[in-house]
Amino acid sequence: MKREEIISEIQRLKQEKEAIILVHNYQRPEIQDIADYLGDSLGLSKIAAESDAKVIVFCGVRFMAESAKILSPEKLVLLPREDAGCELANMATREELMGFKSKYPDACVVSYVNTNADVKAESDVCCTSANAVKVVQNVSAKQIIFVPDRNLANYVQRFTDKEIIPWNGFCYVHDGMKSDVVKQTKDLHPDAKLIVHPECQREVIDLADKVTSTGGMVKFARESNVDKIIIGTEEGIVYRLQKENPQKTFYTAGSARMCRNMKITTLKDVLFALREEKYKIELPDHIVERARIALDKMLEYV
Ligand code: 13P
Ligand code: SF4
Repeated sequence: MKREEIISEIQRLKQEKEAIILVHNYQRPEIQDIADYLGDSLGLSKIAAESDAKVIVFCGVRFMAESAKILSPEKLVLLPREDAGCELANMATREELMGFKSKYPDACVVSYVNTNADVKAESDVCCTSANAVKVVQNVSAKQIIFVPDRNLANYVQRFTDKEIIPWNGFCYVHDGMKSDVVKQTKDLHPDAKLIVHPECQREVIDLADKVTSTGGMVKFARESNVDKIIIGTEEGIVYRLQKENPQKTFYTAGSARMCRNMKITTLKDVLFALREEKYKIELPDHIVERARIALDKMLEYV
């Protein structure tokens, strides 16, 4: 099948099944182009919670599709690639978290949305990179177990006197970005602004003009009058930024960094997902019920 035929079949099936396609900012360009909604983790969770579609095809990674299912359990939620996981999310297990909880019985558990559903079910509240600071500032406990990203935990600590107990997880895409390389890129483009994701290491964050989620980057590129921007996150977002702001110039902070799981979904996979209703996100009721409390609380801080 030619690309145009695949796209028109996707559109036909989408209408027939009353489906919507949610796409994360890191996905391949051709997947971004078929999105009903393109966004960051927080924005897409909100759409999943509010949409009246019967089917959600989630082009992203598993924790995102699981969050959509938890927020809309009555819907059929499909992840076109069963193997689209997130290495960061897999760095925290429920068993390890239970151990942490018994070590710090008075602490509140704030879990980054990049966690598996059973970890969310043991958390008090979730957050994304877009609202982590707000969420932490609003919990009443003085001690917070922040799971699983250590860099985001350390970043959030800058904005609160509460004691953040960081998990030792990291995202290889962001954590692997080295400050000397980022500095070289800044030196090459002295009139550009550097915006980075808070999953980056402290030394990279310290070089940035702005630290924000992928949704925050889209907003900054659109609303600021800066016309040269260095992007410190996964390279997929540059396609969207360039498309929406053709008069501006975007650079990656060093060589482009790619998340393999964000890139495995193809148009053929989306077609297969809609046609065969694969791969269904199915979670035990007791996990959905408990994880929903933490995700609903997160959505109070949109
Ligand atoms: P955002 O929520 O900022 O889109 O980030 C998601 C993610 O996976 C970062 O690596
Ligand atoms: Fe997970 Fe990192 Fe990929 Fe985001 S970029 S999905 S945190 S591995």
